[in-house]
Amino acid sequence: PKSFRILVIPGDHVGPEVMKEAVKVLELIQAKRPSVKFELIHEIAGGCSMDQRGTPITDEVLKIAETVDAVLFGSVGGPEWGHTYPNPESSLLRLRQHIGAFANVRPATFYSRSLIPFSPLKPHIAEPVDFIVLRENCGGAYYGVKTEEPDYASDVWGYSVSEIERCARVGAALARTMGRDGKGGGGPAVVISSDKANVLANSRLWRRTVERVYKEEFPDIELRHQLADSLSMIMMTDPKRFNGIILTDNTFGDMLSDQAGGVIGTLGTLPSASLCGIPGAGSRCNGIYEPVHGSAPDISGKGIVNPTAEILSAALMLRYSLDLHDEALLIEQAVAKVLDGKDIGGLEIRTGDIGGKATTVEVGDAVCSVLEQLLDGKSGAVS
Ligand code: NAD
Ligand code: IPM
Ligand code: MN
Repeated sequence: PKSFRILVIPGDHVGPEVMKEAVKVLELIQAKRPSVKFELIHEIAGGCSMDQRGTPITDEVLKIAETVDAVLFGSVGGPEWGHTYPNPESSLLRLRQHIGAFANVRPATFYSRSLIPFSPLKPHIAEPVDFIVLRENCGGAYYGVKTEEPDYASDVWGYSVSEIERCARVGAALARTMGRDGKGGGGPAVVISSDKANVLANSRLWRRTVERVYKEEFPDIELRHQLADSLSMIMMTDPKRFNGIILTDNTFGDMLSDQAGGVIGTLGTLPSASLCGIPGAGSRCNGIYEPVHGSAPDISGKGIVNPTAEILSAALMLRYSLDLHDEALLIEQAVAKVLDGKDIGGLEIRTGDIGGKATTVEVGDAVCSVLEQLLDGKSGAVS
């Protein structure tokens, strides 16, 4: 059998609650596919690691992350630890940088049409939304030199040409897989690069570099530019204009991907993949798979958090790092069917963020029971 080593880091607050459901999904796949073996390495990072080990993430955990096929991450942070450095969140920033997970892929789509009424946007505006925020993940203001004094603080926001180039190339690869029609057809999807080239020097380098890379290497891909401030406005009034790939910097991408949650109506269904290489380039790469959302301390401990984003992050892990494309698709189909209420006796098994009353565990169980049927139906198809 193919054996995959996966580092599992649940984190704080709702992190462990959603991780339990994602692990259930992985265990089901392993049970149903004798050719697939997951070796899960359970570790900790974030506030819980500060409490137990005196540091947000130990060097040992970072070392394990180097050697595994992928990292499945929950979420870190909470009011009890505050924001003074080193805080829980710094564990994730170190992890991303340590393994070079430079390309953060954050798809924004309704996995089921039945979610459209929960978008705060009018249905005809929300309905066609299907874009990916591709966020640069190892540079910019997040990683520049910081100074922090009582009366002045600063973060250097800078990029090198090679940091921009590699992210631009991932954008092109994603545009080809996505396609104009969102299903891989009609030629490559549009790439919309977003920056503040009218104000920031590093944005001017960003724009120049992205333009050159697409002209030289991807002349068949349509590249557009949209300043980050107006992009965030149009994302609310006419989001379909961005159907395609939004290629952007670390800080803008952080904000725009949460805003995409606003367009969809919840963060509870939005997964992400932080890749160390170009997807589909022949070799699978390591990556960190985590929801877009945080540790949601306001609802933690109640068993009501939506586990969908973590489960869909596990699906992205199967696709991008483990080459298990069929199984990734089946997870996404199972999630969509549960959201639709189909194949589960028409029952509405949904958490409160999308209008339901179900618990986290009930949603995880429902996804597993639909997935089990799908896996049985396709028992011959082992990728
Ligand atoms: P958040 O994403 O945790 O929560 C924002 C809002 O969305 C909250 O009302 C929350 O209840 C809701 N929400 C989020 N995920 C949900 C889900 N799966 N189901 C239902 N509702 C959901 O953002 P925040 O409150 O600003 O941050 C809380 C903490 O999380 C902070 O310490 C922050 O730094 C940290 N954080 C961590 C990560 C990560 O580890 N990847 C990401 C973002 C924020
Ligand atoms: C995210 C989070 C992180 C970020 C924090 C927790 C460091 O908000 O993954 O979007 O800002 O990158
Ligand atoms: Mn964020």
